[in-house]
Amino acid sequence: MQADIVVLPGDGIGPEITACAVRVLQQIAQKFGHEFRFQTHLIGGAAIDASGEALPAVTLDACRGADAVLLGAVGGPKWSDPKAPVRPEQGLLAIRQALGLYANLRPVSTHPAVLDRAPIKAELLQGVDMIVVRELTGGIYFGKRSRTADHATDECAYSRSEIERVVRRAFRLAQARRGYLVSVDKANVLDTSRLWREVTTRIGAEEFPDVRLEHQLVDSMAMHLIARPREYDVIVTENMFGDILTDEASLLAGSLGLLPSASLGEGRIGLYEPIHGSAPDIAGRGIANPYATILSAALLLRHSLGLEAEAAAIEKAVSDALYAGCFTGDIAVKGQTALNTEQAAEAVLARLV
Ligand code: IPM
Ligand code: MG
Repeated sequence: MQADIVVLPGDGIGPEITACAVRVLQQIAQKFGHEFRFQTHLIGGAAIDASGEALPAVTLDACRGADAVLLGAVGGPKWSDPKAPVRPEQGLLAIRQALGLYANLRPVSTHPAVLDRAPIKAELLQGVDMIVVRELTGGIYFGKRSRTADHATDECAYSRSEIERVVRRAFRLAQARRGYLVSVDKANVLDTSRLWREVTTRIGAEEFPDVRLEHQLVDSMAMHLIARPREYDVIVTENMFGDILTDEASLLAGSLGLLPSASLGEGRIGLYEPIHGSAPDIAGRGIANPYATILSAALLLRHSLGLEAEAAAIEKAVSDALYAGCFTGDIAVKGQTALNTEQAAEAVLARLV
C-alpha cells in the first residue's frame, strides 16, 4: 500500500519522539512491503517562530492532502506569555477542527510490567483496559469567549448532532468490546450535559439495545476511575471532561509517556498523537519516552490505513520491550539505569517482527 503521512513534530520533545515513530513506520513499510511517504511541517510554537501563525496554511494544506497526520506535541514556556497574540495550542485546536476530527480515542491499559510503577495499588490495576472517547471539536474549547480587564467568559455549547455523532462512535466501539458504555456528564448542573444525557439515552435505546449504558457525573467518575478502574470498558464524554479524565487515567498506565491517541472524523484521515505534552523541562536531552508516539503510529496504521496486522506488530513490540524491562526515566525505578529515547526506540525496532 502507498500512503502519505504528514509529520508535525511541534515543540519541546516533539521532534525527538516523532523521529522514533517515523523509524518504526519505516521499518514496518519495509517488512510488510508498503510505501509510506513522509512530509514534515511546522505547527505550534515552532510555526509561530517561523511565520507568526500556530497553524500555517501550508501545514493545513499538506494535512488535507494526506492519509494521516502524526503529531508530537505543542507548547512551551517560550510562547506562554498570557499577552501573546497567538499560542501554540491554538494550532492544535485549529487542526482538529479544520480536519473535522470530532472523536478522540484514548485507550488506557495497564501493562503487567509496569503495574508497580503506578502510584495506585497494583491489585487495583491488574487487567485495566479501557478506551475513553473524548468529543474533540465542540464544547467550551470552541465556544465564544470574551475578556475585559476584570471579566472573562468561555461559552460551552453543544448541538444535538455534535453529540449524536461522537456517542454513536462510542456505542459502536462498545459493541465490538464488552458491550458496556459509560457516559460522563454534569447533568445535575449544566444544560449541555442534560442534552448530552438525553441524546445518549435515546441513541442507546433505539440503536444499541445490546449495549449496557450507564451515566456518571464527572466528579464522581474522577473518583471511580481510580477506585475501580478495571470495571470500565468504553467511556464517552465531552471535550473538557475528557481532557481532564484522561490525564487522570494516565496514572493507571504507570506513565503519561505510554498513552497514545487517535483523533478521527468521518473520512479516512486521522490525527495521531501522544496524550502527553511537549515536556519543555526535558526537551533536547534525548531522554523522553517515545512509546506513546510509537503506539500512536500503530493507531494510525489501524484507523487511517486499515493495516491491523502492522498495528498489532508495533503494539506487541512495545509490549515485549516493556516485559524486557526497557524503561525510560519516567517508568524506571530508582537505581535502575533508564534507557534514553533512542535506546527505547531501538528496543522496539529490535522486537518488531
Ligand atoms: C490534550 C492537550 C490539549 C487539549 C492542549 C495542549 C490544548 O491537553 O490533547 O489533551 O487540551 O486538548
Ligand atoms: Mg490534555
